Amino acid sequence: MSKQGILSIDQGTTSSRAIVFGPDGHQFASAQQEFAQHYPANGWVEHDPEEIWSTTLDSCKEAIENAESKGVTISCIGITNQRETTLVWNKETGKAIYPAIVWQDRRTAQYCESIAQHQTEVRAKTGLLLDPYFSASKIKWILDEVEGARNLANKGKLAFGTVDSFLIWRLTEGQRHVTDATNACRTNLFNIHTQQWDDDLLNLFDIPKSVLPEVLDCAADFGTSSAKVLGTNIPISGVAGDQQAALIGQSCFEPGDLKSTYGTGCFALLNTGESPVMSTHQLLTTVGYRLSGKTTYALEGAIFTAGANIQWLRDGINVLQHAKQSQVLAESLDYDHGVFLVPGFAGLGAPHWNPNARASLFGMTRGTGPAHFARAALEAVCYQTHELLTAMKNDGMPSTKVRVDGGMVANDWLCQFLADILQIDVHRPKIMESTALGAAYLAGLQNGIYNTLDDIAAHKQIDRVFKPELGLQTRQRLLNKWELAVKATLAFAN
Ligand code: G3P
Repeated sequence: MSKQGILSIDQGTTSSRAIVFGPDGHQFASAQQEFAQHYPANGWVEHDPEEIWSTTLDSCKEAIENAESKGVTISCIGITNQRETTLVWNKETGKAIYPAIVWQDRRTAQYCESIAQHQTEVRAKTGLLLDPYFSASKIKWILDEVEGARNLANKGKLAFGTVDSFLIWRLTEGQRHVTDATNACRTNLFNIHTQQWDDDLLNLFDIPKSVLPEVLDCAADFGTSSAKVLGTNIPISGVAGDQQAALIGQSCFEPGDLKSTYGTGCFALLNTGESPVMSTHQLLTTVGYRLSGKTTYALEGAIFTAGANIQWLRDGINVLQHAKQSQVLAESLDYDHGVFLVPGFAGLGAPHWNPNARASLFGMTRGTGPAHFARAALEAVCYQTHELLTAMKNDGMPSTKVRVDGGMVANDWLCQFLADILQIDVHRPKIMESTALGAAYLAGLQNGIYNTLDDIAAHKQIDRVFKPELGLQTRQRLLNKWELAVKATLAFAN
């Protein structure tokens, strides 16, 4: 008898993946391809749209073939993606007119400063800050800087999309120009209260409405993959930005549920229920998910580099051969090793929001080596998560536990240090691929594989709970030093 599978496409910042899940979250098949990061100027980060597409397509084909060889039939497709990354393509040719400007890209920092007087309005409507992180200033940059782009846009010939939207356009051979509310709400153009594109914000950023995709719920009809592209027609029925997909994959369906994902960056999202909580401590208010027209909001803390710190040690300065080495190296030192890394490789996100900050290392001696770098890189992610949870607490939302996921949490040392620094329990799920799983759940919800969020939550399984163990004095000493290192990094940036 044929088994049912859901294809989840997880198009991330450093790799494209495709996983075929069974309804119970069991993985039938998966495939993954890394792709190139381009850094054409200080603070710029770009991806080749054709590489985003080809690595995604190849991964899908491989995963589908593998699953089918095990007797699995793919019922539907869910898509999750690196958020904010901005693509503008020609509607006639389907070709992007400029490389994808990645969420980490800071090229529009000056422009964002120049319209800082609109900060309050932007924040009130979008729940976000005025920061180069979000898509609007990147779209404007492309329309202004690429020859002929504005003219084409004014004639309705260009389409903007985040990666989900671009992939759907390609998968449906240009039949659908759509996105979902979790991706739309990361653009600085979407009003999270009315759930509509906002005309005043479009005017502010000088972006014609005609370039924007239609915004759907996270579980909806996003079109059908063309047989020419994937070999068969499969409905695309679930979409969410990767952090919101992880919220769903971790079954954070109750107000107060908190998850923190450690991928390229680290993003902590706290479900706040049906009303948006506006932070007074530099966090973002965002759409957690939108189902059957009903929006569930989240409070978000965004750290721009987490796994990327380890990737830099491996690929940037060749201090590590493999990311996995970082655990053994970190374990080889004691708490007073003295080195601190403030990883402002792409500026600093929440709660500092300084796009001009850059990474800094403190406390090196002649004895400093790979172990110190690895340990400082892992510790930094935990200190930064502590900053996010402190901001949430100051916003009146304290947490007693956090659900973690993403590639880095396979590292037991990291999870234990996180529990030590946060002083709360760290829950690690059995399936650490919460992002891909969340997209599959959404697709299955629309496709009738699950009827309710409770059906989904019934599949939740915990692998291990890490409890705080470190002495409070040592913890405080480390946090004090970290604070000094951050202050110095910010002072250097300004
Ligand atoms: O907002 C950026 C985020 O969506 C990127 O996620 O998984 O590539 O760290 P990730």
